[in-house]
Amino acid sequence: MAKLKYLPRHKKGFIICHWLNGISFLMLFLTALPLYIPSFGDFYRAVGPHNLQLLHRFFACVFIATPFVGLFIAREGYKRLFSEALHFTKDDIEFQKKFPAELVGGEPDLPPQGFYNGGEKMNILLQMGLWCVLVASGLVLWLGTSLPQSLQAWAIPIHAIAGGCGFAAALGHIYLALGVNPESFQGMKDGTVLTDYAVHHHGKWVDELVAEGKVSRKDIE
Ligand code: HEM
Repeated sequence: MAKLKYLPRHKKGFIICHWLNGISFLMLFLTALPLYIPSFGDFYRAVGPHNLQLLHRFFACVFIATPFVGLFIAREGYKRLFSEALHFTKDDIEFQKKFPAELVGGEPDLPPQGFYNGGEKMNILLQMGLWCVLVASGLVLWLGTSLPQSLQAWAIPIHAIAGGCGFAAALGHIYLALGVNPESFQGMKDGTVLTDYAVHHHGKWVDELVAEGKVSRKDIE
């Protein structure tokens, strides 16, 4: 039984940026849907095309600004996000091979994971790539007629495909966070996670905390 029930995991600034990013992405998706799905026609008429465009552009500004805000209020969290995502270890690859079994109810012998596991690292890289594609193609569409028409013609499908991929990834991410590992969600609420959860799901990160003297073995075992 762990003596220290919770371990600090995410700082307040990082949590704010996560929700700014997540909510702005979902609102961008929602305000674009009526353009693609005819059954959203009633929603389209109720809000009005002009208002939908304004809302889409407002949330685009929040989506673009969030990582820059993060440079000021969540520098440490973003630094960790980038450095972890760009550093795949053989345990991460092993995790990716074995994790699907856990999704279908199995109990695979997963290797110890660092602050982010192999699946999270893939999600981070995917979200970073999609952010770049969505922002670049979105700005081309926003700047409109002042740019060459061929650029616009490319930007329309690229923007839509990136939005669709981002939504599919977000659904998987939300399912994993709320359905498979609900204990992780507390980290995005008050910044702490249960010590037992951290030891089982992020063993290498806990070892790091011990090595840095932030917690002692007897505090957690
Ligand atoms: C209801 C919606 C959401 C929930 C419940 C949720 C939950 C979480 C949780 C619990 C974490 C921390 C994981 C950890 O500490 O290891 C996290 C991290 C993260 N979230 Fe979300 N999230 C949501 C929406 C989104 C959306 C829409 C995006 C992107 C568009 C997003 C992108 C990320 C990224 C990139 C991370 C860092 C790495 C990762 O865990 O994959 N989240 N989220």
